[in-house]
Amino acid sequence: MTGAAGMLGHRVLADATARGWDAIGVDLPDGDLTDPAVAQDLLEEHTPDAVVHCAAFVDVDRAEEHEDTALAVNADASANVAAAAAMLGARIVAVSTDYVFDGKMLARPPRPYVESDPTAPLGAYGRTKLAGEVAIAGHNPNHAIARTAWLFGVGGKNFPDTMLKAGAARDEVAVVTDQVGSPTWTGHLSPALLDLAASDAVGVFHTAGGGQCSWHALTVELYRLAGLATRVNETTAAEFQRPAPRPAWSVLATERDETPRLPAWQDGVAEYLNERENGS
Ligand SMILES: NC(=O)c1ccc[n+]([C@@H]2O[C@H](COP(=O)([O-])OP(=O)(O)OC[C@H]3O[C@@H](n4cnc5c(N)ncnc54)[C@H](OP(=O)(O)O)[C@@H]3O)[C@@H](O)[C@H]2O)c1
Repeated sequence: MTGAAGMLGHRVLADATARGWDAIGVDLPDGDLTDPAVAQDLLEEHTPDAVVHCAAFVDVDRAEEHEDTALAVNADASANVAAAAAMLGARIVAVSTDYVFDGKMLARPPRPYVESDPTAPLGAYGRTKLAGEVAIAGHNPNHAIARTAWLFGVGGKNFPDTMLKAGAARDEVAVVTDQVGSPTWTGHLSPALLDLAASDAVGVFHTAGGGQCSWHALTVELYRLAGLATRVNETTAAEFQRPAPRPAWSVLATERDETPRLPAWQDGVAEYLNERENGS
């Protein structure tokens, strides 16, 4: 698997090993996957049956200023890994994002995005991840693209971690109410990726935490479970400007029977707090 030192990747590697799989992880120090020869050499060295591809350029705001770099990692490296896997007859399971959607869901009330909904990324990160999806599908017919959202887990930068630190330091915080998505714990996503790796289902799959909430509601639940009394004030995306636009609505659901279902996002928050506490 790629991106093995990352927030999701290290969890996938540990879970694959716990399943008794002969799992091997690679990350940037082992080689830069934007170089096709590096991707090919790494895969030829390890001859996997399946590659779980977690390596990515994930900084949504920085991608706006560095779209070429984001494209190299999210599209070119993905193409390289997919092609190298195809040459070895190996399957690829790659991770993508809810940010391939623009959030302008016309249905009222809005319904979750399913796999067949048209994509229309708002920003550079979503554009480059969508280019990666297209490249992977084009280079390896034996592919599963798992779109996920609002990911959090130990071992990486994520929103709940930021808010727990803010909550411990401050009496009140302000969090946006007008962006709604599907928070996903890495410990719930990882087994779904491994199930997809073990299956022969092809195409795009929506694999995000069950249910939906705003960043504000996520913070309220996080503080409740963590026993923090910090007040959570409401703000809006317009008041809380960031370099990259985010979809106002990016709730994911699946319309495919083969898609592994993830538990509710609230369970993921509770598990994440346990994981932080116990280191497991
Ligand atoms: N985080 C989210 O909220 C979120 C939401 C939806 C989808 N996703 C997707 O989930 C996947 C995992 O995300 P994550 O949060 O676990 O990311 P992460 O912690 O940043 O892990 C990605 C790993 O890929 C490595 N990498 C970057 N460029 C590389 C290259 N050219 N060659 C080889 N390795 C490279 C990174 O190394 P360095 O750290 O040294 O750069 C890092 O270890 C990604 O596909 C991401 O797009 C994430």
